[in-house]
Amino acid sequence: MTAKSNEGSAPVRTLFEPVRLGPITLKNRIIKAATFEGASPKGAVSDELIAFHQRVAAGGAAMTTVAYLAVSPDGRTDRHCVVLGDEAVPGLRRLTDAVHAAGAAASAQIGHAGPVANARSNRAASLAPSRRFSPSGTLTRAVSDDDIGRITEEYRRGAANAVEAGFDCIEIHLGHNYLLSAFLSPKLNRRTDQWGGSLANRARFPRQVVSAVRDVVGDKVAVTAKLNMADGVAGGFWMDESVEFARLLESDGALDALELTGGSSLSNPMYLFRGEAPRREFAATLPAPLRAGFRVVGSSFLREYPFEEAYFLPYARQFLAALTMPLILLGGVNRLDTVESAVGEGFSFVAMARALLREPDLVSRWERGVSDAGLCIHCNKCMPTIYSGTRCVLVGGNASH
Ligand SMILES: Cc1cc2nc3c(=O)[nH]c(=O)nc-3n(C[C@H](O)[C@H](O)[C@H](O)COP(=O)(O)O)c2cc1C
Ligand code: SF4
Repeated sequence: MTAKSNEGSAPVRTLFEPVRLGPITLKNRIIKAATFEGASPKGAVSDELIAFHQRVAAGGAAMTTVAYLAVSPDGRTDRHCVVLGDEAVPGLRRLTDAVHAAGAAASAQIGHAGPVANARSNRAASLAPSRRFSPSGTLTRAVSDDDIGRITEEYRRGAANAVEAGFDCIEIHLGHNYLLSAFLSPKLNRRTDQWGGSLANRARFPRQVVSAVRDVVGDKVAVTAKLNMADGVAGGFWMDESVEFARLLESDGALDALELTGGSSLSNPMYLFRGEAPRREFAATLPAPLRAGFRVVGSSFLREYPFEEAYFLPYARQFLAALTMPLILLGGVNRLDTVESAVGEGFSFVAMARALLREPDLVSRWERGVSDAGLCIHCNKCMPTIYSGTRCVLVGGNASH
């Protein structure tokens, strides 16, 4: 299968007309980006999780992304994360049925958290390309060749189960220093075998997984990946290599589109978000012994970057120049004219996370011409709510549930 071309994208492409994403058709070009919903206690799909996505679907986005679905128990961020085993299929089927009935498509963000996993909560060592201390103070375990084979198979099984559950799209997580992103990072991947060293070697495991997922789902659903353009960490994965890696993905031809992100959930999360760092609210989610330590390291872990509308656009443009495959712009999109100009300059889709947490019906308001900008103020106080039911704190009560 060959990658689809974004060439010939005319500036007149309209936002609110049906458009192809690989084998599927979306009703418009706006996708709700992944926001771990914190509504799957002990990994079970809850009515709250379904209602969350129903609201987004009814609110006009073409596709909502369910996040985050782990391919194996040791790939969970913590124990309240859905694992894409056979037992998850009926609950997820209820969710995709509800999303479809509300008029949108459903994407499953699948991945392995690797070093970002909470080892204490999972009661299993976190996995990483090389042994290191994780932020929770535990030592990670370096993955073996057997782990790489096993995890690749788990991606296959997870993707097959997501299709069985009715998802229209599989989004493979290649960002934020989760396991596959950690393999790409020269800082986190210190291996000297065929999985480490040169970019070709560090890229081997992520490419193997992407091809395995495409292999198992065939042309039944779309397959995308969320890729870090830059980790935002000294010695990490940066533009010099990420554009080259994206070219390799394009030549493999397994993806229908690439969503462009950045940052590290391990050591620089605010690079993802920009805007205010919610240090006090984040500290309040930690157990008391860790809270004291967070007071010392909190300002470097959650260091602030100024928010700008579409803050990843300058980096994403370099991907647009280097690739022909469809690209999804993400990061700080809050205005209708930003979406229009991004599509006009060749991005096939735009993804939004916080703007749609704040107003799940924003896209329909844009389409009806009753608004042209979102109300999210980038305070990032929704970030720590992932532990108690993800929501915008400015919406009254537990509004996203
Ligand atoms: C509460 C919250 C939870 C998030 N969870 C995930 C996640 O599970 N997976 C992921 O790839 N990104 C996650 N993100 C990042 C978003 O997908 C997106 O990359 C980021 O918020 C920037 O986009 P925005 O400016 O449109 O919000 C999360 C963001 C927020 C605010
Ligand atoms: S809490 Fe609400 S306003 Fe603040 S960043 Fe999150 S979605 Fe936006």
